[in-house]
Formats: sequence, structure tokens, C-alpha cells
Amino acid sequence: MCGIVGYFGNKDSVPILINGLKRLEYRGYDSAGLAVMGDDQIHFLKKAGKVSVLEREVDDHVLHGSIGMAHTRWATHGEPNDINAHPHLDQEGNIALVHNGIIENYNALKQVLEKEGVTFQSETDSEVLVQLISKIYYKDGLSFPEAVQAALQEVVGAYGIVVMCKDEPDLMVAARYGSPLVLGVGEGEYFIASDASPIIEHTRSVVYLDEGEMVVLKNDGYTISQIKDKKVVYKDISIIEHDLEAIEKGNFPHFMLKEIHEQVNTITDTMRGRLQVDEGTAFLGGLSDFMPRIEHAKQYYITACGTSWHAGLIGKYLLEEFAGIPVHVEYASEFRYRRTIIDKDTVVIAISQSGETADTLAAIKKAKSQGALTLGICNVVGSSIARNTDCGVYTHAGPEIGVASTKAFTAQVTVLSMLALLLGRKKDLSKQHGIKLATAMANIGKDVETILSDTYDIETIAEEHMQVGNFLYLGRGVNFPVALEGALKLKEISYIHAEGYPAAEMKHGPIALIDDNMPVVFIAPHDKTYDKVLSNIEEVHARKGRIIILTDKKSKDLEKLSDYIIKIPQCHPRVFPILASIPLQLLAYHLAVLRGCNVDMPRNLAKSVTVE
Ligand code: G6P
Repeated sequence: MCGIVGYFGNKDSVPILINGLKRLEYRGYDSAGLAVMGDDQIHFLKKAGKVSVLEREVDDHVLHGSIGMAHTRWATHGEPNDINAHPHLDQEGNIALVHNGIIENYNALKQVLEKEGVTFQSETDSEVLVQLISKIYYKDGLSFPEAVQAALQEVVGAYGIVVMCKDEPDLMVAARYGSPLVLGVGEGEYFIASDASPIIEHTRSVVYLDEGEMVVLKNDGYTISQIKDKKVVYKDISIIEHDLEAIEKGNFPHFMLKEIHEQVNTITDTMRGRLQVDEGTAFLGGLSDFMPRIEHAKQYYITACGTSWHAGLIGKYLLEEFAGIPVHVEYASEFRYRRTIIDKDTVVIAISQSGETADTLAAIKKAKSQGALTLGICNVVGSSIARNTDCGVYTHAGPEIGVASTKAFTAQVTVLSMLALLLGRKKDLSKQHGIKLATAMANIGKDVETILSDTYDIETIAEEHMQVGNFLYLGRGVNFPVALEGALKLKEISYIHAEGYPAAEMKHGPIALIDDNMPVVFIAPHDKTYDKVLSNIEEVHARKGRIIILTDKKSKDLEKLSDYIIKIPQCHPRVFPILASIPLQLLAYHLAVLRGCNVDMPRNLAKSVTVE
């Protein structure tokens, strides 16, 4: 949800900024722009469209400077055109700013500024902030960092900003509240970015800014302080551990396909050092200090958005089945604005790949204020949700760049499976059953490899359905969320309308849509729901729907009723959702590629949604 990057050093910032924007493009790609500090003025370029459009523009202009900032936008206020693109400058063109977030009181601030004679160029909320900084700086006689700090005091909303002023050309200021910012500390140079991906090729030493902090970069060092009271904060430098390779496509045509294939290892990485097959349990180090509260909680809430919410739904089935604790799963955007009946006997689990989703972060803060124990399941180490929860488990899936989440989802379900196993064993799940489940989990990597080794059937189905306008995904029990996730993947990247439904609910509405042009994907493992799902398949068959069955065992019945069968290895029924998700990811992927869609950057979406 908007990516920002800044460079302060001795090198030419332009190639560093463009490269940084490419790494951040998954956060939004409506427009891109950059600004550099020149000898006597700020030079900038901004264009609607992807970073490649800006890059071409940069090639046609002579633009250099060793201090600069850049932005890739996911539009909130104002359509995605050149004028609304960032950076925004004050009306004299002396101060430039890039912003990620939303200034909620921008209308009120704008009216005041307009009365004082400020003319606005864009329709954005962000421009208000740069005009406000300018007004304070030139009127109140403050230093530039002081003016930024004073302006931020007047702002309501969320921001990650980088800002610079031609009258104080030897410094750069960045600040955050509600939107992430990471400072990269190199040899005589600094980087500032929405996440570490633009920084890692320059330095592995980073400082994660916390809410309400600002940093002033100067030639002789950096100072971090609190925005509210200017109090200086001393923070540790963290070292990024993953390699550059992890954020590059390698030989794959798309990040999404690379990430689907990485699941051979990522699921195992999630379990490494945690799954205890011989004991039929799991050890989650990040929870150990809080185990008594987790174990004796009266209820759990799982709160998340998008794909992470689907993982949460699977978690509900597993936790209730094994641990016998009631679990409510709720969209974070709903949870945060209603009366929630939670207290110190409640555990609120936040699931988030990025760890930065604004609604999920707000939900966690609310849960904390109501006395609940908060537990984060995040992929990005050091992210806001990871740092704002009492305890947590990292999914360790590695950086996920494709906007449609794949490996992060299976890693989240893996963590929830381990949590259910661990709690189950503390309650009444027998060691024997624990060992069965743990053994099945330990084999997932091998089974994923089998699925990925032959994708011919999936590609054939994609080829034969690339023109259809709708898809239905049906599953029961723990596989109902798998159906939801399959449908979400398809609509996100191929723009084919798709719905996920509990198979038996089909009779109460979606069955009206069935005709010989409606493909229906049934998730039909040979578990205790099999016979019931078979009846639902019959119902679709009777209405001439096109039947695609995803199962772990072919049978005469399935062969008779289906148009296509996707078979995955036979497995434990509670491991099936993880394995079944992979062919559905591939089906969405191949359909999107055949339809000529931009798989890694689907229209209107952003990977990290840092606005509510
Ligand atoms: C966006 C992404 C989804 C993701 C959701 C939640 O909508 O496009 O892929 O599932 O945000 O993100 P989180 O980082 O909290 O898991």
C-alpha cells in the first residue's frame, strides 16, 4: 500500500531509488515518482503507471543527486494520474515529500491552508502535509526537522513519510505513525524504505522505526526521536538474515510461480525445530512464557484479512477439534469497530503475512486494551504486528513478493496446525493420534514435491476454461476455507468471478447459477465428509455443471461424475487442506497467465494494506 524509499549518501541516488521502487512495487503500482536534491533546487519526476514508465522517463532526463526519495502509489485519495503521483511539493517547490498512509483530517487542514493563500495542485491528502510543513517552516522560524515534527502533531491518521527541503540540503527527515519504515545503515550512507527489500543489496544493518518516531539523517550520523516530545531514542541495529536471492525471481517467469514452488521447502522450514514427531507434539518457543494463559483461555479470537483470514478459518476447525476451545474468526476490519466481549481469559490471534495490515494491527491494539493476550502469526520479522503482540510465532516462509499470497498461506496453516497439536496434547489428544498427525505433517514437503512434479491436468483445465466468466468452489468442514481461498486466488489474479461456498449451502442459492457453462471445483477428500460431498457433486451433475474434482483418491464414483480430476497424494485429513491449496494456486496461476493478466501485480490490489 504505497512503497517509499529514500537515499542519503555520496552515490547517485537515482538508480538506487528506481531499483528500490521495483522491489517495493508489490505495494502499489498506480503511479511512481522521485525527487532529488539539486544544487539550488529540488528536481522531480512523476508519472501515472508502473515503475517502468518512470524509469523510461528518467532515462530521457538528466537527473542526479546524492540525496533523494521515491514513491510507488496505491491510490486512495485522487485518481492515479501524474499530478496525484508522489512526491508532492509545497507551492514554492522548496520541500518534497513522499507519503504512505492516510491523513484523515486533511480536509480541515486544507481549508485552513487555502484560507491562508495556499494553492493545491493535487487531490491527495498527502499534499496537505507538505504544504503544512512548509507553512510552519517558513512562518515559525523553526529548523526543518522541528517544522516536520510540529506539522505531524497536527495530523490525524497514518503516515510513513520521507521529506527534504532545499534550504537545508544536508539533511533528510523520515517519520512513521501507522505505516512501516525501516532505516538502513550503510558505510557513510543511509536508506529509508517501507520494508527492507530495497535496502538488503546495500546493507544488512537496519533499524526498525517504531510508531511515533522520526529520524533525521545527516552526514555525521542519524538521530531518532519521538515525534510527540522530541525525546531521543537509542535503538539496536538488527541484521537482516535472508539473501538477495529470496527477493528475486530466479528462473521463474513470475514471483507467484516461484513462491508456489518454494512450498516444497517453506512448509518444512515453518516446522523446523518445532515439530516433535516422536512425542506427537510441537514446541513453539515464542509462546512458551505465555503457555499457561494460552492453555487455560476460555475462548480464542482469530483476526486477520484476506488470505490470512482464510488460514484463520482453517485454524478454527483445527483448534476446536484438538484443543476443545471455542474459536471465533473475524475480519480485523469488523472486529475493530464493534463491541467485542473479550477479557484476560481470551487469546486474540492476529494472522498477517506482512505484519503491517492496518486493520489487523488496530484489532490487536483493541484486544490488548481489553485485557486479552495477543498472539501474532506473522511472516515478516520485526513487523508492526510482530512487535505489538505479547507473543507470537513467525511463519518463516521467506519474503513473499507476489501480491497473491501462496507460500505464506500454507505456512500460516502449518503454524496453526502445530498450535492445535501442541494444545491438543496438553488437553486430551492422545500421544498416538499426535504422532499420526505430526508424522503426516513431517511428510508434507515430499507430497508438495509430488504435486508440483506433474501439473499437466491443472494446465489442461486452465486451457479449457480460460474463456469462462464464473467459477464455483465447494468444500466442507475444514476444506470450506480451502474453497474460499481457491476462489479468492482465481479472482485476484485472473479477474474471473469466483465464489467459495460450503458444499451443502450450494442448495440455498448458488445452485441457481449451475448450467453447462459453470465450472464447479469440488474439494473432495476421502474423509468423513466424502459421502456428503458426493451427494453435492450429484446435484451439480444433474444440472449439467462442469465438474472438477480435487481429491486424494480416485474412485469409480468420482470418475463417473467428473469432467476432470486433480489427484493429490493420500494424506492425513487434517493435512489435506495444506496440500489441496497448492493445485488451486496453480489453477489460478495458469488461468491468469493464459488470459494475459499481470500475475504478480494484479490490478487495483496491493500486497501490504497499510490503510484501513
Ligand atoms: C492484501 C493482500 C492479500 C493479503 C491481505 C492481508 O489484500 O493482497 O494477499 O492476504 O492483504 O495481508 P496480511 O499481510 O495481513 O496477511
